Amino acid sequence: MKIIQVKDYQAMSEKACEIIVERMQELEKPVLGLATGSTPEGMYECLIKKNKEGNVSFKNTSTFNLDEYVGIAEEDPNSYHYFMHDKFLDHVDIEEENSHLPSGLEKDMDKECKEYEQMIRDAGGIDLQVLGIGVNGHIGFNEPGTPFTKETHVVELTDSTRKANSRYFASIDEVPTHAISMGPETIMQSKEILLLISGENKADAVAKLIEGDVSEQVPVSILKNHENVTLIVDEAALSKTKIK
Ligand code: F6R
Repeated sequence: MKIIQVKDYQAMSEKACEIIVERMQELEKPVLGLATGSTPEGMYECLIKKNKEGNVSFKNTSTFNLDEYVGIAEEDPNSYHYFMHDKFLDHVDIEEENSHLPSGLEKDMDKECKEYEQMIRDAGGIDLQVLGIGVNGHIGFNEPGTPFTKETHVVELTDSTRKANSRYFASIDEVPTHAISMGPETIMQSKEILLLISGENKADAVAKLIEGDVSEQVPVSILKNHENVTLIVDEAALSKTKIK
């Protein structure tokens, strides 16, 4: 795992943006794996700016998001579909049909999981997957204890994740109980992974990742078994890690 230490959120966002632009210039038809949440927002802003300035085009790019809540309409401001359109997709020159998120609204969710995996495979696999990390070490919505062998699946959210995400909802009762998420195995199949971590509330998870063993109790630790991972981490997130 390559570790890039940066000062703060802004520096993390710019570094991630720079790496993505670099890869996009190398690839003819880039396939990006994307995340929602507070972590990548600054990176999306930077990518939008680069696109508007003409430094990068998304015309030949496909995107696949990690996850979506189950049971929330796409036009609901709390859905990840809404987030992605609002924060990124509607502001760049990507073709509508090339941006993908799993659907949390299908009757047959097992079928949706399989079809999402197939769509990723049909696109040639993910070239570069962007990840954030939960305070409990989750990636995507893969909570502690998720078997590393899981592909896209429906997950029950832990109380800690529902609480963390309740900041976007009117109350915690409105936070869905389930989500559809790429599994650890799906994530590991990406050719390259960019893990972004900022803030003191992530410091425990970072310490477990850097100093601990690979364990299903710390989902992010699976990335230690991947050959091409870059961790971009700020000072606050590194504050509980001995190796600096
Ligand atoms: C989002 C996702 C989650 C988040 C994680 C961190 O698509 O899959 O794993 O990356 O919960 O969220 P933030 O960035 O809001 O702290």
